[in-house]
Amino acid sequence: MVKKTYDIAVIAGDGVGPEVVREGRRVLEAASVLAGFGYRVTEFPFGAEHYLATGELMPESALAEMRDFDAILLGAIGDPRVETGLLERAIVAGVRFGLDLYINLRPVKLYHRDLTPLKGKGPADIDMVFVRENTEDLYVGIHGFFKKGTADEVALQEMVMTRKGVERAVRYAFELALHPSRRRRLTLVDKANALRGQDIWTRVFEHVGAEYPSVERQHAYIDAACMWMVKNPEWFDVVVVPNMFGDIITDLGAAIQGGMGVAASGNIHPGATSMFEPIHGSAPKYAGKNVACPLAAVAAVQMMLDYIGEERAADLVERSLATALATGKIRDLSTSSGIPTQRYTDIVLEELRADSERPATG
Ligand SMILES: NC(=O)c1ccc[n+]([C@@H]2O[C@H](COP(=O)([O-])OP(=O)(O)OC[C@H]3O[C@@H](n4cnc5c(N)ncnc54)[C@H](O)[C@@H]3O)[C@@H](O)[C@H]2O)c1
Repeated sequence: MVKKTYDIAVIAGDGVGPEVVREGRRVLEAASVLAGFGYRVTEFPFGAEHYLATGELMPESALAEMRDFDAILLGAIGDPRVETGLLERAIVAGVRFGLDLYINLRPVKLYHRDLTPLKGKGPADIDMVFVRENTEDLYVGIHGFFKKGTADEVALQEMVMTRKGVERAVRYAFELALHPSRRRRLTLVDKANALRGQDIWTRVFEHVGAEYPSVERQHAYIDAACMWMVKNPEWFDVVVVPNMFGDIITDLGAAIQGGMGVAASGNIHPGATSMFEPIHGSAPKYAGKNVACPLAAVAAVQMMLDYIGEERAADLVERSLATALATGKIRDLSTSSGIPTQRYTDIVLEELRADSERPATG
């Protein structure tokens, strides 16, 4: 059989990004050997060091090049030496918007009850996935200042929602709710009571939902959704949410699944080159200290493998991560765990090898 070879673009980025990407790549390498596929990595240098040395953020030509890759693995972008948000907008948002990666997929799954700060909740209660719209809303970049710096200053940031943009996110979420791993319940989270423009979400949700009669439709306003996430997380299965609220509520999701050290996301344009990353940022104060937990990057690799069609490899990685956490071999995912960055990966790799050596059942 001809071995399939994938082209993977890597943007390790800033702060802890390169450290966690290095660990994610160790798991990618082990999975490729076990599952029998090949891959070539092309590293892109974008981030603070590159910008400070060359003045270049991310050229259009790089975006064009990235379209030819099977997937992109991103560490994190952001550096306090550079103007707030400049690198993030050019690189993270640059790839999301440039490649029209309109879905931000963020699974929130708890593997051991000791990892959640929620009293009385366990793995059976915390298993949801967020479909965050990823190319519209307050992030389209339409903003401005009038009389800047004066007492009469006016600042504007426009929330833009299109029928096409909302509908494709909603449709993706309904399809996901039908996946055998899900419970056929889809919740729309918005603030359409106060932000009447978001009525477009209400209407599209009902319209598209009529095509999916087997999916139970639920609704929660963003403020109440935050309360429910803490009080009754078991209530959520698949959640579809506009960009800004999705950005915020998925950090809450990360916190209830064990922290930023384990939360991953996919920036997806179905059928086209997509980008996978930990949801955390560059955590500059922890850079180079060997304390960042790389499991979010490992989970990003797992999502990437699943996306490119290496389901067996993705399953192996997910099971290894799950076992390492569920058995209590890793009990703390924070920067103060005392576990060096590479040791987390070592434990996952031990599980990966043990799993692959186990005889198949059934
Ligand atoms: N997609 C991205 O690249 C992305 C996402 C978010 C923030 N950022 C940028 O990152 C920079 C820092 O932002 P921030 O401090 O708000 O968020 P952050 O996610 O970098 O860090 C917040 C906190 O999360 C925890 N954390 C983060 N990564 C961790 C890891 N691997 N293991 C254990 N704990 C971890 C730490 O306690 C850290 O103080 C900023 O420049 C911001 O704009 C980039």
